[in-house]
Amino acid sequence: MPGNFIRRGLRRSLIGQREIALENAIPDLEHRLQSLKELGVYLHIPFCNQICPYCPYNKELYHPDVAADYASAVIREIDAYAHLLGKAPVTSFYIGGGTPTTMLRSGLAGILERIYDRFNMRCSIHMECHPNHMNEANLKTAASMGVRYLSIGVEALQDRHLRTLRRPYTVKEAIAAVHRATDSGFECVNADMIFALPGQTYAEVEEAGRMLVAMNPDQIAAYPLFVFPYTPLGRKDRINGYKSAGVLRRRKMLRILEGAFYGAGYERTSSWAFTRKGIPKYCSVTVPLYIGLGASGSSYLRDVFYLNTFSVGGYINALNSGRSPIALSLDLTEQMQMAGWLYWRIYETRFTKASFNERFGKDFDATYGKLIKVLGYMGFLGEYDGEIILSDRGAFWLHAFEDLFSINYVGRLWGSFKAEPWPQRVILC
Ligand SMILES: C[S@@+](CC[C@H](N)C(=O)[O-])C[C@H]1O[C@@H](n2cnc3c(N)ncnc32)[C@H](O)[C@@H]1O
Ligand code: SF4
Repeated sequence: MPGNFIRRGLRRSLIGQREIALENAIPDLEHRLQSLKELGVYLHIPFCNQICPYCPYNKELYHPDVAADYASAVIREIDAYAHLLGKAPVTSFYIGGGTPTTMLRSGLAGILERIYDRFNMRCSIHMECHPNHMNEANLKTAASMGVRYLSIGVEALQDRHLRTLRRPYTVKEAIAAVHRATDSGFECVNADMIFALPGQTYAEVEEAGRMLVAMNPDQIAAYPLFVFPYTPLGRKDRINGYKSAGVLRRRKMLRILEGAFYGAGYERTSSWAFTRKGIPKYCSVTVPLYIGLGASGSSYLRDVFYLNTFSVGGYINALNSGRSPIALSLDLTEQMQMAGWLYWRIYETRFTKASFNERFGKDFDATYGKLIKVLGYMGFLGEYDGEIILSDRGAFWLHAFEDLFSINYVGRLWGSFKAEPWPQRVILC
């Protein structure tokens, strides 16, 4: 399989490991958390009102009783961290899912109150929302809880594609939801769209780009449809006779969208996101070190990466009986930390070589100079006065690369957690 061959080659040359395996071990968190100068927090809400056939995220159908138990368990997890964190400032906070807005009126307020009470919060909230939840009352509630950055999963701008994706609203309703959000005074409203949908034409992609820009959100994130093998879409491998769009077709579609977004004054702020100039961007956790709360919450603390169990029941039971919800962890060598750092800085589209030196005390050129030169020859990025900037071509291929890794990794993790909430060992590659 060429995919496996490329993955193995990159793993050996970039991270120097024969295999990457997560183990069922709880890392020593005390000294790691107590030495933090700042951190980010991710909170996972694993509930949705319906399950979309293409969705790779950890979620299950919303049920009010389970959501209430989940809220109590998250509060226990917050308390456990609060003891160890002390006064370290939290400078980035992201609530993702699933659909966080399912818990807007059933437990989210209590979780946020505890977080603001026990952690040293120095930031506002970024949160994902579903178009069907974006009524005036919910928008006010979200704002009153401290949400200043909002992302709405619009996904498609033609009703036939919304139906294929089993999204429970029309284009007209999605547009109205975005307008209500942009009229509500948030710092940044992001609209998500997916392209390369089953049977989608170039003209439809162009129309979707035009319609999104006309809604005037502060930011647009455009993803090609990724097919994850463990989703209903991946299992069937086709919707309406559709096979995944090839690389060249996706690339041409992304070019069409880039034309629409750049033409309307948006600039690229991550490999898939385009933000209006001068607007602070909506994004996931922005600081290098973070903890993840909730089922499947993942944490990265410099030399260790660890994951909570994906099982909502397993997560609730563990916390109710005083056990840790951490299911798997991976110790990271310096080479792995550097490779991870480089990946995320490129993903953010620009970084200075000096920031690598600040983080690792090493010369960037001596470590990655050759690789950056090769990527530069290929037109993926350029260097301007010590700053590395990703090109449009690089952004596209970065995602082809991510596709190659993440679909494989996420699939292995999912497969393991589906079979067993507390797997002993998961070999990622
Ligand atoms: C957690 S979901 C969105 C929040 C909310 N649950 C909703 O559906 O509106 C985050 C985003 O990931 C993107 N996404 C989900 N599955 C995808 C897939 N298979 N391929 C590409 N993008 C995907 C969608 O754009 C989606 O809005
Ligand atoms: S796309 Fe959103 S609503 Fe649909 S299953 Fe995934 S997280 Fe839930």
